[in-house]
Amino acid sequence: MTLSTKLPIGEKKIDTILVLDFGSQYTQLIARRIRELDVFSVILPWDISKKRIEELNPTGIILSGGPESVTNSNTPRIPETVFDLEIPILGICYGMQTLAEQFGGQVTASKTKEFGHASITLEQASILFDGFEAGYSMDVWMSHGDHVSVLPDKFNLIASTLSAPIAAMAHTEKPIYALQFHPEVTHTQEGNVVLENFVFKICNCQAQWKMENLIEQRILDIKERVGDKKVLLGLSGGVDSSVTAMLLDRAIGKNLICMFVDNGLLRKNEAEEVEDLFREKMDLNLLVVDAKKIFHRHLKGVSDPEQKRKVIGRTFIDIFDNESAKLKDDINFLAQGTIYPDVIESSASESKEARVIKSHHNVGGLPDDMKMELVEPLRDFFKDEVKKMGAELGLPLEMLNRHPFPGPGLGVRILGEITPEKVITLQNADAIFIEELIKANLYHQVSQAFCAYLPIKSVGVVGDERRYADVIAIRAVETVDFMTATWAKLPYEFLGHVSNRIVNEIEEISRVVYDISSKPPATIEWE
Ligand code: XMP
Repeated sequence: MTLSTKLPIGEKKIDTILVLDFGSQYTQLIARRIRELDVFSVILPWDISKKRIEELNPTGIILSGGPESVTNSNTPRIPETVFDLEIPILGICYGMQTLAEQFGGQVTASKTKEFGHASITLEQASILFDGFEAGYSMDVWMSHGDHVSVLPDKFNLIASTLSAPIAAMAHTEKPIYALQFHPEVTHTQEGNVVLENFVFKICNCQAQWKMENLIEQRILDIKERVGDKKVLLGLSGGVDSSVTAMLLDRAIGKNLICMFVDNGLLRKNEAEEVEDLFREKMDLNLLVVDAKKIFHRHLKGVSDPEQKRKVIGRTFIDIFDNESAKLKDDINFLAQGTIYPDVIESSASESKEARVIKSHHNVGGLPDDMKMELVEPLRDFFKDEVKKMGAELGLPLEMLNRHPFPGPGLGVRILGEITPEKVITLQNADAIFIEELIKANLYHQVSQAFCAYLPIKSVGVVGDERRYADVIAIRAVETVDFMTATWAKLPYEFLGHVSNRIVNEIEEISRVVYDISSKPPATIEWE
């Protein structure tokens, strides 16, 4: 397979803030906050090559926090290139500590970790804190064990707290600043002002990362790259592939061929809705492949969760491969809805220089023998930016703000063997639950909600009839990142109403239970 491996971020000719990642849970948040100021920002691992930093040609650099201690040997340090560039630097938390250590200051490991709200006092005026006078107290968010105990030479103290006497410092001659607290976290109420000061008053960045410009620029990029060639896109109906489709449509129109595979494991009416939106309303060149029977045939007799996932993934690739081979036109490009967090995960986990193409789990991997170049127009956007772009491109908000749906679909929500009948039962139960959540204004208060099908017979009485049938579990969770989640405390009356509707309207179900497990120890999906 021939892949184009040009990283778009290296080609930016706009002001860019580089966030060097030392492994903090807040690193992505730093870049998002900078972009919210309409300034472009990218994240690269702390040990990235000199060449990559030089190619990026950043206007300023932010050093993120991180889990390590500079008091230990062999822990990350700022590469010399960063200082050679002679551009403004802002160290945050670990970034501050390693900065202090590398400039000859001292960092001390504290016995107790400071985690939570703190109040810093400004010891002297600084352009980083422009808008606040000396003596001002600011509520900030701290999350650290170590602290800077001795200022390095040529650094001034700017702010202090009781537990971290050196909470902010600045170089006396160079534009180098450091903060022990986290300005990127919303708990630091005036954190945005600090970041704004750094970006606009210290780095003198121009606000050039604006959605309206971005869409137009991205469309031009695609036109230039693709010309009058054809592009194939696997459309899943999710946000990322849908926005990719809309961008490509605006750039190349009917030379984009979207392929939607109905695997028979979708939500109720989903295939029809995708067809209606993209073919009827948006007038896209959409090919719907009805592969329900093939998927169900391959899944017959398979009940192990991992095995089911594998069968579903493999079947998808086979079908995508076969169907694209059938297309008479020569297709030169394959589009993918890869977004920035996928790129960051890949570059952080692999060796620095490797450009890893992560198989998008909704697409399921790329067919090996396809001679196509890859087009990934969303590669440098965060999810919230993708949604904003989708809204600008005319995608309905209900679609952009829909809960996530796993690639293997209802396949991981029907426990044990999957049959077409169970799929219909689950689709109906799930549709009732979601409809009621929307009606009760609860849908957007939870992060993900769905029904799972439990193939366990239980006795019930419906009307005068005894019913011996299967069970539906209702699941609703609240989460920020889907890595951990708590079960949603939905009102009892609401749950009772949903349960009644499901048992009364769906003959195949005799009982409804509510899942009160958080993650960990449970996962969000049942399989
Ligand atoms: P778990 O069950 O691991 O789910 O707590 C976390 C989030 O990931 C989604 N999920 C998947 N998405 N392919 C996907 O595209 C999968 O195989 C898959 N498994 C889980 C899940 O819906 C939740 O949002």
